[in-house]
Amino acid sequence: MRTDASPLIPDEALQAIIQGHGTPFYAYSRQKLRRTIEELRAAFPREGVTLLFATMANDLPEFLSEVARCRVGGCVNSMRHLHMALACGMTPTDVQFTSSGISLPDMQELRTLGITVNLDSLGQLEQWIGLGPGQKAGMRINTASLAPAVPVSDRLGIEAAQLPQALRSAYAHQGRIDGLHIYVGTNFSDPEAMLVPLRAFFRLAQEVPDLAYVNIGGGIGVDHAGSTEPFDLERFGHGVCELLDDLRAYHGKNIRLIFEPGRRIAATSAVFGTRVTDIKHLNGHRYIATDASIAVFPRPFHHPESPHRTQLAFRGAEEVLEPSFVVGHTTFSKDILAVAALPADTRIGDVLLFENAGAYCDSMRMRFLGQEAPPNVFVEH
Ligand SMILES: Cc1ncc(COP(=O)(O)O)c(C=O)c1O
Repeated sequence: MRTDASPLIPDEALQAIIQGHGTPFYAYSRQKLRRTIEELRAAFPREGVTLLFATMANDLPEFLSEVARCRVGGCVNSMRHLHMALACGMTPTDVQFTSSGISLPDMQELRTLGITVNLDSLGQLEQWIGLGPGQKAGMRINTASLAPAVPVSDRLGIEAAQLPQALRSAYAHQGRIDGLHIYVGTNFSDPEAMLVPLRAFFRLAQEVPDLAYVNIGGGIGVDHAGSTEPFDLERFGHGVCELLDDLRAYHGKNIRLIFEPGRRIAATSAVFGTRVTDIKHLNGHRYIATDASIAVFPRPFHHPESPHRTQLAFRGAEEVLEPSFVVGHTTFSKDILAVAALPADTRIGDVLLFENAGAYCDSMRMRFLGQEAPPNVFVEH
């Protein structure tokens, strides 16, 4: 397991958070968030590249406001998130709405606000274009229809082979398709696995005469456990920029590239902290109970295969470790936050930290199990 030389939140700041807010808590580093955004921008050294943040990964107003201050827009999939993004400082031109089954009243509001929309089906296209002449639309392309070898096929978008029909349908109603969208999947550790469907996607984008943008979704993985090589962002950016250059040359114009990561922007900016409330041995295992639960820190429940690196706060690296189940303070048998090697002398009252807790954690909190929402504390460090 790797150990970081510099913790996300320095010990003094962590002490202050614990004293001021108690446990459990989420603590966010604004500096880390800003650095991550700069890294992502640097990976795409081209004009006309727009970074959006997928708000489903983290919809906290303070988080969205910081993102907006960094001149990053929003990828939203609900009207609630759209309104939040606008309230947090994003302008309508900074936001793209990508969803499925959008209702007519929502479509009308999106049109009034001038929001770019990426549509999920030919039926949605007809409804959208039918709102009035001159409507522009982005179409979402189903990934498996482009690259049959993708590991998980999903329900979203139209088949690549339906694109000509979509183009005809738009023209027939005095509208046009000016954008193509794809989301190749999530939490990739290998850029090449993303580039395979993206190559087919960029080839398909040659077929759209009025193309103004391509949106390549998110998908960049985060090494939650800190145990493997980090995603090679430079290689990914280079691969995408090559595809973009070719597409621009083909169309003879400056097609915009939209990139909308959620996990990669948010995950590394936060830790989740919880206090040890009990330690017991049962059937040959050590169980460390905490004052948290998967109801308030749900990623380990949804993705036990990609655990968060877990360690005791305020301890050095040199420790005798013991395998442990870190569990929530409920009766739900699957309330397991981590299976980790932790110091053998862990005591009741110690504070445990879970790293990379900024994405798909607080935003997926559940009412199940009656847990209070932990505070989300933002520090400048
Ligand atoms: C349309 C769209 N874009 C972007 C994202 C963000 O994906 P990730 O967190 O994998 O970067 C999602 C997540 O589901 C999505 O649905």
